[in-house]
Amino acid sequence: MKPSFSAPATGHDLLPAPRQEKVWDIVVRLFHWSLVACVAANLLLLEEGDPPHRWAGYIAVALVALRIIWGFVGSYHARFASFFPTPSRLKAHLAALQGGKHRPSVGHNPAGAVMMLALLALIIGLGASGYLMGTDRFWGEDWLKDIHEALATLLQLAVLLHVAAALWMSRVERVNLVHAMISGIKKWR
Ligand code: HEM
Ligand code: HEM
Repeated sequence: MKPSFSAPATGHDLLPAPRQEKVWDIVVRLFHWSLVACVAANLLLLEEGDPPHRWAGYIAVALVALRIIWGFVGSYHARFASFFPTPSRLKAHLAALQGGKHRPSVGHNPAGAVMMLALLALIIGLGASGYLMGTDRFWGEDWLKDIHEALATLLQLAVLLHVAAALWMSRVERVNLVHAMISGIKKWR
């Protein structure tokens, strides 16, 4: 079957049989790897607080804003409605994983979706606290710097967990999730 970005023919998001499917459209993939570049630059390369750091931070926030819009108008698996982690979806996912009855999701699984939303929220928080640090009203406020630093630490922990989960779920679901985020196509073994 020719891969497409459309809704699964079965009407639900679980795989009936081993196959391949086009999951991540070009916007999602460009967003992901550009965001990785901005965040990695700010955490590893650029001098804290200097203009390049602020610019990379604002670009990350702009990417997140675009992704949120794309979450309403993008292709099926990019849309929040297709993967939003409602408590019942999350409970069913965790119970299936625990009971060894897990079936691969085509798009984000509910736990991955929680992490995705957390990563977006942390980046918005970093952008907002970074911006406020430079305003007349809050300039020199230590508590704001502490918030920015704490959000950056949380982001690092979240990214570590996110990468570990992507590698682990690649084994559990027998699909190379990292490759799928590059090519857009998930190929289940
Ligand atoms: C992806 C977004 C961002 C990340 C991951 C990030 C990360 C960091 C980190 C790790 C530090 C060092 C904290 C410490 O240990 O003291 C820092 C400091 C700083 N950041 Fe950001 N940042 C981001 C966005 C921004 C933005 C958008 C601005 C401003 C417009 C900004 C302004 C600053 C400033 C002024 C400092 C120095 C604070 C001080 O004087 O201690 N950051 N940032
Ligand atoms: C700064 C580091 C990173 C950030 C902020 C980040 C953020 C995100 C976000 C927001 C998504 C959701 C994508 C969307 O629907 O638009 C995502 C998905 C994903 N990311 Fe990352 N990511 C980071 C690093 C990485 C790295 C290094 C890898 C690979 C080793 C990776 C692999 C993936 C995969 C495989 C998915 C799709 C998960 C799924 O199939 O449900 N990420 N990431």
